[in-house]
Amino acid sequence: MIKKAFKQFRLGVKSPGQAARVLASEAKMRAGVRTLRSLELAVTWICNLDCAFCYAEDLMKAQKKPPNMTVDTVRKLLKDARDLGLIHVNITGGEPMVRSDIYDVVDAIPKDIVCSLVSNSTLLTEDKIDKLAEAGLSTIQMSYGDYYLKAFKRDLARYCVEKGISVTLSVVNIKSERDNIKYAFEMAEEDDFSVLFNYPMIYNNVGVDSEYYWKMRYHPRCREDNLFWSGKDRCPAGTHKLYVTNDGDVMTCDRIHAIYGNIHDEPLADIHKRMYDQFIKHKSFCLLETCTDQWRINNEKSGHNYSEELIGTNDDPFNVFEGTKLMEGSIEGSTTAKQMHASRVQSTKQGKEPEPSKS
Ligand SMILES: C[S@@+](CC[C@H](N)C(=O)[O-])C[C@H]1O[C@@H](n2cnc3c(N)ncnc32)[C@H](O)[C@@H]1O
Ligand code: SF4
Repeated sequence: MIKKAFKQFRLGVKSPGQAARVLASEAKMRAGVRTLRSLELAVTWICNLDCAFCYAEDLMKAQKKPPNMTVDTVRKLLKDARDLGLIHVNITGGEPMVRSDIYDVVDAIPKDIVCSLVSNSTLLTEDKIDKLAEAGLSTIQMSYGDYYLKAFKRDLARYCVEKGISVTLSVVNIKSERDNIKYAFEMAEEDDFSVLFNYPMIYNNVGVDSEYYWKMRYHPRCREDNLFWSGKDRCPAGTHKLYVTNDGDVMTCDRIHAIYGNIHDEPLADIHKRMYDQFIKHKSFCLLETCTDQWRINNEKSGHNYSEELIGTNDDPFNVFEGTKLMEGSIEGSTTAKQMHASRVQSTKQGKEPEPSKS
């Protein structure tokens, strides 16, 4: 784990100021001091693609306020987050590159905070990569897989590395993507990229490829979902990591649409404290509990032996959200977590309770 943390450190950290903050943050976290480390920031909902699996549209529909992530708002948010200990911001969307002022957005991030950006690559050019590098971008996460194959240009990814921007190939961990993921690892080996497995949000019952995930998790090129992980098998969402929507709503992460407050209504510090206190005792590899390890733990805790085949389907015999802080934290209007829960309860009521595994 330490070796991996060092590799991730090398991927993101580009200056002594960033290194000093990252090391101080690591020490604080390990000492159990409340600190914020990572922030995901959706700077737009607009996108020039329409990937069937994308969760961004759901998020957009759940918003109550108009989009307001101006450069000044980003500057203020980052100042507040920095005061709470922030070491890393990940710019996402929608497609961040549709914003003509994206370079100003990146430039508004304090230089001692590591900045990464997720893109579908369709709008990238060498000229734009030059500007992103100049504005201080550390890492670009280029989405890779069936939906992105037409857009992905390996030469541009190599150009990023030349310009000092680390490249992560961001893949969605579902069985139908296995060949693309294998190829992503090959490219990563050859061109000094890394690979990030996105945990799929449940959609259309397309299965999570947990077998392949666990096979590749310790591959030297495999990056944790979050650039700065919280420690051994501990998901950072809600404690050391937040997600801020384009409208200022604060959630734990992009997969769990439970809103804990809005930065336009109250100080970020208050929202973070509320979330941190709720999640710090919730020790889970992934709050969605869709990985094999968490499944095993749930089986052990409940005395069941439910099959791993059920992971990534709508049948969740554990009803993981019931009675948890996640349900309490959800605010009406941000309904995805509640809907997921309701559909699980419903399928159980309809007599679909799954058979325990024979193995
Ligand atoms: C929402 S996109 C936004 C940035 C940019 N438009 C892109 O596609 O790279 C951020 C990342 O989330 C991934 N993603 C989208 N929908 C997902 C889902 N349902 N489950 C897991 N990952 C998803 C995408 O593949 C992408 O790497
Ligand atoms: S490119 Fe990104 S934001 Fe756009 S639809 Fe695909 S996953 Fe969603």
